[in-house]
Amino acid sequence: MRVTIVMAALAVLATAAFAQDSPSADNGKVVFDKWCTPCHGAVAPPEMPFGGDGLPGTSALGVKYRGELPAVLEERTDLAPEFIETVVRGGLFGMPITRKTEVSESELEDVIAYLTRNNN
Ligand code: HEC
Repeated sequence: MRVTIVMAALAVLATAAFAQDSPSADNGKVVFDKWCTPCHGAVAPPEMPFGGDGLPGTSALGVKYRGELPAVLEERTDLAPEFIETVVRGGLFGMPITRKTEVSESELEDVIAYLTRNNN
């Protein structure tokens, strides 16, 4: 009996630990909408060449890739996790750095899980 209780408790603990460790693309979408969509959102209809409509991230990526890759970050399937992390923490030209007090490490892991969910 006692062994069963201990085993059950261990199973619950193991599940909880696993849930905390694995990044959640669903939460990544929530974090992305708050911190990234203001610059990287999708806008329709596009009023600028290659899409963008004045959103800094979407416009800049439209000009950068000239339609060869989607200007909307959420539509990309080629983003490497390390690249996303480097850009978010270090900034890139017009993109400011994002501090850990704004987007925590685990939130960034969730955003990465979200942005790489459809990767080839
Ligand atoms: C203040 C506006 C702004 C915010 C907020 C912002 N970005 Fe950006 N981001 C940009 C701009 C502008 C670029 C284009 C930089 C360039 O010219 O290469 C960019 C580029 C990127 C790139 C590089 C894409 C490529 O192929 O070159 C990634 C990845 C990225 N952003 C991820 C994010 C994520 C994730 C967030 C939210 C945590 C975020 N950005 C928030 C403006 C922003």
